[in-house]
Amino acid sequence: MTIRILSAIGDPDAARAVSSLLHQLPDAEPAPAVADSTALLAALARAGAQGAEAPAAAGPAAVEGLPEVVLVHERIGPAPALELIREVALRFPAVGVVLITADAGPALFSAAMDAGARGVVGLPLGYDELAARVQAAAQWAAGVRVHLGAGPEAAPGPAGTLVTVTGAKGGVGTTVTAVHLALAARTAGRSVALVDLDLQSGDVASYLDVQFRRSIVDLAGIQDISVRVLQDAVHAHHTGLGLLLAPEEGERGEEVDDRAARQILGALRSRYEVVLVDCGSQMQSANAAAVELADTALLVTTPDVVAVRAAKRQVRLWDRLQIRKAEDTTTVVNRLTRNTEIQPPLVAKATGTQVARTHVPAAFKELQPCVDAGRMQDLDNRSTVKQALGALAAELGLVESPAARQGRGSHRARPTLTGRKRKAIAPGAAPGTATAEGAAGAAPGPADRAGARSGGRFAGRRGPAATGGAGPFDAAGPYEEG
Ligand SMILES: Nc1ncnc2c1ncn2[C@@H]1O[C@H](COP(=O)(O)OP(=O)(O)OP(=O)(O)O)[C@@H](O)[C@H]1O
Ligand SMILES: [Mg+2]
Repeated sequence: MTIRILSAIGDPDAARAVSSLLHQLPDAEPAPAVADSTALLAALARAGAQGAEAPAAAGPAAVEGLPEVVLVHERIGPAPALELIREVALRFPAVGVVLITADAGPALFSAAMDAGARGVVGLPLGYDELAARVQAAAQWAAGVRVHLGAGPEAAPGPAGTLVTVTGAKGGVGTTVTAVHLALAARTAGRSVALVDLDLQSGDVASYLDVQFRRSIVDLAGIQDISVRVLQDAVHAHHTGLGLLLAPEEGERGEEVDDRAARQILGALRSRYEVVLVDCGSQMQSANAAAVELADTALLVTTPDVVAVRAAKRQVRLWDRLQIRKAEDTTTVVNRLTRNTEIQPPLVAKATGTQVARTHVPAAFKELQPCVDAGRMQDLDNRSTVKQALGALAAELGLVESPAARQGRGSHRARPTLTGRKRKAIAPGAAPGTATAEGAAGAAPGPADRAGARSGGRFAGRRGPAATGGAGPFDAAGPYEEG
């Protein structure tokens, strides 16, 4: 991502110092600094007007020509720095403003943030701090532009890549995987939406330190999801991710049925290059639709008997309900240790799925501080879990531009099952207890739910994949070592 930067600095020596640091930033395109607040506002107005003339920017806000980042020096004039920041934030909301100041204390920091700044960098300037603040502001600006429906990333075409992440069972690392795949794709410059379809107990918001009252439920029942409606429901996270969260009240998750899920995912795919979905581990109609539509369906397991059995159960459920075939599913082994007996080839054999080449090591200590702070985005780049999930994102083709991916073929090669009827699944059904009657698009009624609870309607529908059961990963059979 090229970061266009415009600085407003009155003092020529300070302007030169900033300029020389900015020229060292990778992907930065600094424009010559302007010397006062009037010149800054005029330059932004001109850039905005140029963008408006460009046909590509014919969205709700013409922001194409605007720099991603504006740096404002504290001693700018004639308008005081904070007033200028407020003005820029109001008139050009898709620009990330960073204040340069000698007083980087908490009071000024809060005042700058209140005025609409995206960051504060202290004097004397250091390269690392400036780079971090500029990059964060640029990521934020790019995210806002996607939501405003402008900018080159806004219209990746009719179908961004859809990746679902489902847990073999609870607690195996589904959300950590989904969050870090999304962050890896975003860091590589892709526009990314992360959707929490773990409708009853989604915790994407908790992992990314987000308090946002809108959720996916706000989009359920809307026939034609416009850019504006989508933008209202999606939280523009400061990492640049667009977050569509699970509802605060779990029971409202039922409002998102199969049909709503298809529509919402379709709308997201037309706006984002990559749509990552945390499906949790409990299948209901919405996440089943997502798994069915996915270009890549990941199934996360840990390398232990109980989880691998659960993975096998999940795969069989998907097969019986014609959601997805085992061979079209990619299993990710999380929390792998060298001395565990159950190594990835055994997982592949037991589940009949492909197992991702990249495995994720167990590293509790690394993750714990970020989990406790509810800030997964702060996980250090040296983290082995982060590195493994970054490698997995690369393996899945999520860090490349769509054009590069198409050139080489990708996980998208698998035709989606969209349009083909599949058997319906009742809300809240755990693997092995879903209903088998009905067709895609039909909202499951009370009878379906009753069926799910009793398992009655499901009982007679065992397909070939559900038979057998003497292996070590079958719940009925004993686990034999080796
Ligand atoms: N590779 C790993 N190494 C160590 N700990 C991990 C790893 N992956 C995940 N964890 C930890 O496991 C716990 C569960 O992770 P996570 O919330 O992602 O699982 P989940 O499958 O989404 O759970 P849930 O069923 O509650 O949605 C968290 O505390 C997380 O930090
Ligand atoms: Mg989870």
